[in-house]
Amino acid sequence: MPGCYQDIYDHSITERDAFWAEAANALVWDKKWDQVIDLSTQPSAQWFGGGMVNTCFNALDRHVDAGRGDQNALIYDSPVTDTVAHYTYRELRDEVAHLAGAMQQRGVGKGDLVIIYMPMIPQAAMAMLACARIGAIHSVVFGGFAAHELATRINDAKPKLMLSASCGIEGSRVIAYKPLLDRAIDQATHKPDAVFVWQRPQAKADLTPGRDFDWHDICAKASPADCVSVAATDPLYVLYTSGTTGQPKGVVRDNGGHMVALNWSMKNIYGVSAGDVFWAASDVGWVVGHSYIVYGPLLAGCTTVLYEGKPVGTPDAGAYWRVISQHGVKALFTAPTAFRAIKRDDPNAELLKDYDLSCFEALYLAGERSDPDTLQWAERHLGVPVIDHWWQTETGWPMCANPRGIELLPIKYGSPTVAVCGWEVHAVDESGHELPRGKIGALVAKLPLPPGTLPTLWHNDARFVSSYLAEYPGYYATGDAGFIDEDGYIYVMSRTDDIINVAGHRLSTGAMEEVLSGHQDVAECAVIGVHDDLKGQVPLGFMVLKAGVNRPDSEIIAEVIAMVRDQIGPVAAFKQATIVERLPKTRSGKILRRTMRSIADGETYKTPATIDDPGILPEITDALRDIGYARDVAG
Ligand code: COA
Ligand code: AMP
Repeated sequence: MPGCYQDIYDHSITERDAFWAEAANALVWDKKWDQVIDLSTQPSAQWFGGGMVNTCFNALDRHVDAGRGDQNALIYDSPVTDTVAHYTYRELRDEVAHLAGAMQQRGVGKGDLVIIYMPMIPQAAMAMLACARIGAIHSVVFGGFAAHELATRINDAKPKLMLSASCGIEGSRVIAYKPLLDRAIDQATHKPDAVFVWQRPQAKADLTPGRDFDWHDICAKASPADCVSVAATDPLYVLYTSGTTGQPKGVVRDNGGHMVALNWSMKNIYGVSAGDVFWAASDVGWVVGHSYIVYGPLLAGCTTVLYEGKPVGTPDAGAYWRVISQHGVKALFTAPTAFRAIKRDDPNAELLKDYDLSCFEALYLAGERSDPDTLQWAERHLGVPVIDHWWQTETGWPMCANPRGIELLPIKYGSPTVAVCGWEVHAVDESGHELPRGKIGALVAKLPLPPGTLPTLWHNDARFVSSYLAEYPGYYATGDAGFIDEDGYIYVMSRTDDIINVAGHRLSTGAMEEVLSGHQDVAECAVIGVHDDLKGQVPLGFMVLKAGVNRPDSEIIAEVIAMVRDQIGPVAAFKQATIVERLPKTRSGKILRRTMRSIADGETYKTPATIDDPGILPEITDALRDIGYARDVAG
């Protein structure tokens, strides 16, 4: 239906229930829903209540039953181990069914929680699908998080079982996972009953007798498990994401609404259908990996690519072109930072000449703001639409995109285009009033949210309400600021909280501040995100030392850098800090982080009227200049 985005969008709003019921009919339900949406439930409306489903059935068995059993479901491409492996829908279903059977044998069933801490290998996707198969709830923890972060999630999620691998491979480095896992379980107050470990040849793990099981052996002995029917409103997974404190938020996703929304998005946003090859170059530890490496493409009957490598260095900046041409990828989804890395290493895209990309139709970017320069570079060299789209862990799928599968709208650089069907996005002022077009405010989405988003936070309705619903009654607060132009194009400019985006990874500066404050010599501190040409933003720490501390600054800085790496993980990329006499604050004692960031990035800034002592700002500017920032600040 080309050329009719506005009609379809209007239909999704005015005939909401009919719109989503039609989308839901594309999937197999064990029992049909009683109500498309129930607006009376708390803390949020529920989708497809009364319906019974199985997400794994819809992602795997359904396609085998429909005659797609011999089609590739998943291609594992791992330049770091020199491996390419193909799994057909039948093979993937059988592997998943055996793993699910092994989990059942260890007493895992409907409603039990399973933590998955794994590198980018097919077993990670199998683990997620195996949980879905038996109605268990998975919670994947990204491998770049350290033991302490994993322990925090173990305590909150209380898993019955954990699934892991002996190691991950980061470029040329082998990272043993098992010691991190053991440390996390030691630190956590909750203990899982069992751990399955996938042994990789690059580093074998020692197994703890009685608790740990060799994944391969236990699956070989298990009988395959059938799909267990669950309520559409039952949780499929919990995914922890950074909030403003060190305690991450456990975003819950249901089964029914999630599969309906993702299946709809594959065709209408990404323009792919059953049989097409789709590649999301992300990690299963992030929401992009959940939605668009695993569930979305498989629900839609596509072939998904699971890539264990980097955009550069594995082996070079032509890696993405090689994967696209070798596997016939039709659409690629990645973060702008990956393209900045490719552009940096191969500015004229010389390596592109070695590959035939005639299969390739579109590039999708998300996870951080797309800088027009990088987007245009990709457009110029690839000759296909480059589509910036906006969403977040909480929403599970895009709020704002160029709906290429319905109609490719004109691209405006700097804007992820328009609201996706089902989403009513507004820019509002502090009292929640809609702002005139072009004026920056908080970006909010009108309630009820469409299916596939978060019904609540794991065991924490109160935090769900206070984080997302309380500030603007009747709306979901995205935490992003931006504006909407005369044509309805949405522009996402910055976060309104202390979250930063480092190489497309969402991190909490508050969590880093908690680590810095834990250092014996630190009296107070602040962490801000400063501009970085490659990663978009990187964290930078400021510390005021306790009176009487008389040690070299460099020693203390090295210690806090090591502490952040150890407690949060290498993914935080916390590599810079500076020591100052005092921090700029308002008269009520709030640290002026935004002003500090503006100074660091060389932006013009206004001295806040509420500042306690304006004389501090030149001191901060000098400290920043000493470490290579604030060069453009007059002064
Ligand atoms: N397990 C263990 N360590 C990990 C890890 C994992 N799964 N993922 C990352 N790390 C480590 C890296 O080795 C690196 O460690 P180092 O400080 O010792 O070098 C650190 O965490 C930071 O990793 P990363 O953010 O990947 O930075 P990088 O410098 O290695 O690579 C890019 C930079 C731009 C190439 C890389 O970030 C990238 O490919 N980004 C793609 C975007 C993406 O996947 N976004 C996800 C959301 S869509
Ligand atoms: P995450 O939950 O990790 O997916 O991060 C979500 C956050 O990343 C959003 O709230 C935004 O701040 C940012 N983000 C994601 N996509 C975009 C985009 N296309 N443009 C601007 N910011 C984005």
